[in-house]
Order: sequence, then C-alpha cells, then structure tokens
Amino acid sequence: MTSLDTRSLLVHAPSDSDGEWWRHAVIYQVYPRSFADGSGDGVGDLPGVTSRLDHLAALGVDAVWLSPFYRSPQADAGYDVADYRDVDPLFGTLDDFDALLARAHGLGLRVVVDLVPNHTSDEHVWFRAAAASAPGSAERARYHFREGRGESGELPPNNWDSIFGGPAWTRVPDGQWYLHLFDSRQPDLNWEHPEVRAEFEDVLRFWLDRGVDGFRIDVAHGMVKAPGLPDWSGHVSMIDGSDGVDPLDRADEVTGSGNQGPMFDQDGVHDIYRAWNRVLAAYDGDRALVAEAWVEPLSRLARYVRPDEMQQAFNFAFLATPWHAPALREVIEASYATNDSVGAPTTWVMSNHDVVRHASRLGLSEPNARPNGIGRGDEQPDEQLGLRRARSASLLMLGLPGSAYLYQGEELGLPDHTDLPDDLRQDPAYFRTGGAERGRDGCRVPLPWEAGAPGLGFSPAGLTWLPQPASWTAYAADVQRGVPGSTYETYRAALVTRRADRLGTGGLTWDHTFGDDVIAFRNRDVLVVANLGSLPVALPEGAAVLLSSADLPGDGTLPADTTAWLRTR
Ligand code: NOJ
Repeated sequence: MTSLDTRSLLVHAPSDSDGEWWRHAVIYQVYPRSFADGSGDGVGDLPGVTSRLDHLAALGVDAVWLSPFYRSPQADAGYDVADYRDVDPLFGTLDDFDALLARAHGLGLRVVVDLVPNHTSDEHVWFRAAAASAPGSAERARYHFREGRGESGELPPNNWDSIFGGPAWTRVPDGQWYLHLFDSRQPDLNWEHPEVRAEFEDVLRFWLDRGVDGFRIDVAHGMVKAPGLPDWSGHVSMIDGSDGVDPLDRADEVTGSGNQGPMFDQDGVHDIYRAWNRVLAAYDGDRALVAEAWVEPLSRLARYVRPDEMQQAFNFAFLATPWHAPALREVIEASYATNDSVGAPTTWVMSNHDVVRHASRLGLSEPNARPNGIGRGDEQPDEQLGLRRARSASLLMLGLPGSAYLYQGEELGLPDHTDLPDDLRQDPAYFRTGGAERGRDGCRVPLPWEAGAPGLGFSPAGLTWLPQPASWTAYAADVQRGVPGSTYETYRAALVTRRADRLGTGGLTWDHTFGDDVIAFRNRDVLVVANLGSLPVALPEGAAVLLSSADLPGDGTLPADTTAWLRTR
C-alpha cells in the first residue's frame, strides 16, 4: 500500500512573475577560510574569494553567502565575533571586503553576509567589560550572568547543556556564572536589553550601507530565552534540533508542535525580526534575511518567514530526510504547504559547513545516518555510491521551485575528509564532547582548484590549514571544467536550464506513474524523475533527456540512484 494515489497532484502553483531575486535564487555558500587563499598562509581569505568569483559566475549561481570573516579569536571558526564592523586580519581588510563586493556585483552576483547575534566572542568589548565588572553591574546586564545553585553557588544556575557538549554555563572568578549555548568563548547576549537590540540594528545598517544584499542569521531561533531560564531535560543537536528520533518514525515532523525547550523558538524572537524587516525595507534592492533556525515542525519554521519578518529560512527538514522517496515526498509537500501559507519561498539545502557533506552521508550503509563528523575508526562511506546519490539528490533539488543553497565544493562532488587525524581537529564540538563527536572539520577542508598544483591550488604557497584527502586530486575544478558529465558540468548545465526555464518560480505537480520509489514531478515544461529504488524504471517513450546525474544506458530506462530532467513539450 502506498500513499501515492491519495494525494492531490498539484503541490505548488507556478508564478507568472519572477518577483524578488531571493524567491528563486541559487545561493552558493563560501566558507572563507577554506575557499581560496590569496595571502599564502594556508588559510582562505577575502582576496582569495575575489580571485575565484569568476568560477561562481561561470557556474551560474545568483548569489554568494559568506560565512563570518569578522574580527574573531576563531574559537568557533569566526562564529565567535569580537567586532561586528571589521574584517579579521586573517581574512583581509574592509577594503578587501569592498573589492569583493564590487567584483561580485560586477559579475551579477548578490552577496549575503553572516550575522551572529545570539552570542559574541569572549573577546568582544562588551564581554570584556562584563567580566571585569561586578555582579549586578550594567556591563553584566547585556549577557546572562546568574548566581549558581548549591550551598555556595558551586552548581550552574540551571541544567542546560551546551550544544557543543558539556554544561551551558561557565563560572567567573567572583563566583557568578554566564550562559553560553555553544562554546564557553561564545557568551549568549541578553536580548531583553535595549542596547543589544539597538546595536544589532546598527550593525545591519553598517553592512547595508556598504552594499550587501542580505544576511544569514545564525541561530535565529535562539536569541530570546524563556523567563527565569527554567530547567529542561530535553536534548538538542545542531541543524535540525533533533531529539534522536528516527525521522521516518517522527509523527510530529509535519503536524505536531515542536517547541524545543526554553532556549529556542520563543515567540519573542519574532519582534526582533519584525524590527529588522523594517531596517531592510528602508534600503533599495530587495535586501533579504535568511533564518538559520533549527525549528520543528515546518509550521513553526514558517513563522520566521511571515510577510513582515525574514525572507527565507533554511529547510533543514529536507537536509535531514534520508534517501527514501516517500519521506522526501512528504517533506517536499510539507515544505510547500507551510511556506505557501505565508507567501514565502521554500528553500532547499543538502550540505553546509556544519554537516557531513551529502556525497559522504549518502555513501554510508545506514540510509538515515547523519553523524556529527566521520573520522578514523568510523565506518568509511562508499565514495562511489555516495557521489552517485549526491549527484542524483542535487539534480532533484535543483529541479524544485524555490531557492537552493549550494555549499562550496559540492559542485565538484567533494566528499568529506573522513580520515582526518584527530590531532588536527579544530572544531570545539570535538573537544567539548571529549571526541564523542568528531565534529565538523571534515566538511571544512580547503578546496581543490588545480589537480597538479601543491595543495591542489588552494594557496599560492601550497599550504592548507587542514590536509586534503588523497582522492581529491580527481575532483579538482580544473579537471572537471569542460568535461561533459563531470559533476561540475552537470551542476552548470542544471543551472543554465533552471534559469532559462524559470524553474525557480515554477510549480510542482507530482507524477505518480513511476511507483513509490521514484520521485517524479513536473515543473513548467520539465519532468524531473529521481529513481531512489534499486531497480531501473522505464522513462516515458520519446521524452527528450535534458540532463542526467549519471550516464543512461540508452535503453529508455533510468537506473537506480539516478535523476533525469526530461523535456515534456
Ligand atoms: C551555527 C553555525 O552554522 C555554526 O557553524 C556555529 O558553530 C553555531 N551556529 C554557533 O554560532
């Protein structure tokens, strides 16, 4: 018994007009420390990004999102910001940023920057002042300082855990504790404080005045905490806030109420986004806010993209769904239903700097696996199977109406570094969990640009801040460019068709004729067919194949783990 025939076929209606750019954009995430190194120190930087922007223009994306490049001691790779209005010398200068922006705009690429408002670095001037001031001082009021519990305050003020492992509280010498949902070097700001609100509106204006097209908002569901910071016995993990329940068994995934405890998804966060919406609206050019919010179910997430709040939210429910056709169909339907109900575009994402790349995830024997990093001694993914499925998944994703996010290197089919020596790891999550989580270094390895160059062309000096896996020579950009059927050329061709056929603003109508293991839908004049089953399926006779994620056998069938785009008219 399948659920196929009981559903309405039209899931999402096409639009006549394209509307604002963020409704249909393909947005490429640049992780600056690992994209390209201009200075030769082995760490990527802004001049390096600028020097490789033509790669992104040629790929055919619409926008670039830059992970943080602000002044930071790099305790969490820049998600610990010490100065929100300056570039860290590791990455360059404000002039370098302006040059990057000008070059990107010259190439027709929009630029979205990262904003990290939930917490600052412990080296931020506010936190330094707070640490140096007395309990109860005005300086401490911008953060969450509390007295401890126990006879002499020796126990943390509540039982919350840090998302990176260990307690969410650290004690200062005078005996008070401060809250940090992440690393101890990332103290949480108190968003009830008017100065905090005013400061971030000003930071938004600082970058809007420089010309940025939007902001990706880090931990957008975390800034407001429940009054009294009550104890909570639940557990959250990065990205989907999952409580460890198998997504296939999760009855509330689509319909239930998924408020995840007193530190997340409090109604008060929406006032902040309404205010920010007004800040952006004073500028020309359809500037946008995108929420990084690990909120379930999707109906709660849709609240972040109501017409007077943010423009987009990352669709982590899609990322977290296993390679399983019924589950993916379900999350695709739920995504359109919830976003359409508030008039927001649906977004799609498979990989980013916080998760094992989908080319590696999909090569694990357990189809639901989503480990927090893979290392020596762990099951190693089947690299060929992972790549085959990743290409299939990406073509499926790029055929969907809405806005899609690509993580740097996925257009090359890169797997994670799954054999990284643990003594090279840098992710605080690895250290705070005592190694129980390998962490995110494996997806953050410097990109391979030239197969024959030292360090695969990442840096003029041949240095890379993390070693690259030996297999990456075969994935280098220069060996894929111009090679029909390479992962890079497949992405490029998909983006050409997506733009020419206006698939981003198109509609989705299911085609259920291929069976339960196949995801097939019509978007304008393109029929997307993804075979997630184990047997080949027959394609419609006479259909013209526009693109496929793997070679087709030529007998009119679509093999397993393959996606094809067909012209239907
Ligand atoms: C989400 C970011 O994507 C991640 O890299 C970071 O560690 C946390 N937020 C904390 O800022």
